[in-house]
Amino acid sequence: MVVTGIPGVGKTTVLNELQDLAKQNKFDLVVLNFGTVMNEVMRELGKDLHRDDMRKQNIEVQKKAQELAASEIANRSGHGTTVVDTHMFIRSVSGLWAGLPQNVLTRLNPRLFVLVEADPEQIAARRRSDSDRKRERTMAEDIMFDLQWSRATAAASAVSTGAPVKVIRNDAGRQKQAAQELFQAIRSVMED
Ligand code: AP5
Repeated sequence: MVVTGIPGVGKTTVLNELQDLAKQNKFDLVVLNFGTVMNEVMRELGKDLHRDDMRKQNIEVQKKAQELAASEIANRSGHGTTVVDTHMFIRSVSGLWAGLPQNVLTRLNPRLFVLVEADPEQIAARRRSDSDRKRERTMAEDIMFDLQWSRATAAASAVSTGAPVKVIRNDAGRQKQAAQELFQAIRSVMED
């Protein structure tokens, strides 16, 4: 399973709730954060960076780390359900760059794509409140563009893999409901 959302939409918050739900229901589920694994890979490549500085690196360096991270995540996937916390695209120094290009999709082989979404104004406010992160100050119009680009990229990923796309809203204060919806979607795919 691949869960994506633009920075600040709250996907990690929803995934924390999902892990609690899985535990309560004795459902074997592991969440792996692509950015964390990529950060470890970059460190092994000699680049010890803050996670928000990875996207500012030369694109060829990022591509190499991305592919190695995808292989590492595939290796770490066990018998249960693996959920990968990642992005449909990254605002890199060279432009909008796919988080899940074909070589990554082949390694991850996802059965479901999830897009976590919220209103642009709420995403902007969440970004402002995250003082420990180096988040871009973005206008609601730019956030709207990013939400649309994520959907377009998800459509391309769905066509290339045959896996469905589920859109989940993470509205203010409703992260538990979003996690519940996500849990149901994952269970229904796993039961197929
Ligand atoms: P990553 O770690 O995924 O960074 P991010 O996008 O900034 O994600 P976060 O987890 O920090 O934000 P979030 O949207 O999950 O929001 P959060 O839950 O914190 O990726 C880091 C880097 O790794 C990327 O920049 C890229 O360089 C690289 N990377 C990753 N995947 C890659 C790939 N496939 N290929 C190449 N590079 C890749 O919530 C934000 C705030 O909102 C919090 O304060 C929270 O409390 C609040 N909040 C959340 N939900 C709600 C709610 N319902 N109501 C009210 N407040 C809420």
